[in-house]
Amino acid sequence: MNGFYMSQPSNRVFSGVQPTGNLHLGNYLGAIRKFVALQESHDCIYCVVDMHAITVWQDPAELVRNTREVTAAFIASGIDPSKHIVFNQSQVGEHAELAWIFNCVARMGWLNRMTQFKEKAGKDRENASVGLFSYPTLMAADILLYRATHVPVGDDQKQHLELTRDIAQKFNNDFSAQIAGFGHGEQYFPLTEPVIEGPATRVMSLRDGTKKMSKSDPSDLSRINLTDSADDIAKKIRKAKTDPEPLSDSIDALKARPEAENLVGIYAALEDSSKQAVIEQFAGKPFSEFKPALADLAVARLEPINSEMRRLMDHHDHVDAILANGANRAREIASQTMKEVREIVGFLGARAR
Ligand code: TYM
Repeated sequence: MNGFYMSQPSNRVFSGVQPTGNLHLGNYLGAIRKFVALQESHDCIYCVVDMHAITVWQDPAELVRNTREVTAAFIASGIDPSKHIVFNQSQVGEHAELAWIFNCVARMGWLNRMTQFKEKAGKDRENASVGLFSYPTLMAADILLYRATHVPVGDDQKQHLELTRDIAQKFNNDFSAQIAGFGHGEQYFPLTEPVIEGPATRVMSLRDGTKKMSKSDPSDLSRINLTDSADDIAKKIRKAKTDPEPLSDSIDALKARPEAENLVGIYAALEDSSKQAVIEQFAGKPFSEFKPALADLAVARLEPINSEMRRLMDHHDHVDAILANGANRAREIASQTMKEVREIVGFLGARAR
């Protein structure tokens, strides 16, 4: 049996973004910008997770458009699809197959604890889709299909990544005899490390510093969309909720001022510095001075991405070709993992497929 198994990669990154419209500054600073940086040191796989999107009903034509738009945002932000893999999830059927197996590994009690399900399902839990409940097992499948070692995400995904580790560990334990018997060491799936770092792991709403910036907030003023014009960006920052005090001179003092802390974090992330550095620059200055500086910085960073996204959206054949090519490359890895997993689990005929 030796030689049949793929060896475990030591530095593979996987992450995903849902094509559900309104990509915003939180998605960019919390995730996409990190995706770009990790390309230097890791083999990266970036996925537009359209199968996750349909856990809540999506208009089919919009889903196609949004899938292209997230892809365009990846490329416009600096992800290189010739060096790394960019694809949309539904083109690689193995994601669904591994998710099924993980549905049988994960426990109801684990999923019952997921706060994101509770938030998204709201009061009408009986009416939520089964997919929305089992969503985290699909996410674990996304990551472990490629046996990824590192997953860059915003803070809101932390619990899902802990669950991914629990699933990997239980699978490794449940099938330890098969895994060891094939001379593959003790661990088939790695215990993936989350990469949640920097000053903007949780970008907050511009209207309420205690709420996360989100695609689904009914107020468009609450978020900066990657498709916003320079004027819109400046207007939204001008109108962002703040308090009347000038900027604090210490991080501790900022903690009691969520709106101010959020804007400082955004500035730091856009500038690639730290909250401390921003405070040193602006301590004691009023928001009437800080906000225009933030608006200029945000426009300078986002405008080139915005115009490249628009250009790519006008050439969607090119975007579709990138996804098709990425899917072919992803499938090569995914199909190998699934062959092995089928055999580990005891599905007859696994090798012949
Ligand atoms: P999604 O599509 O909601 O968000 C994409 C990424 O953006 C991050 N993010 C934020 N970061 C900081 N501040 C915010 N306000 C903010 N809002 C969103 C998210 O943390 C995420 O990194 N379940 C995932 C998609 C997914 C995935 C995966 C991620 C599916 N499979 C496998 C990693 C690995 C989600 O819904 O992200």
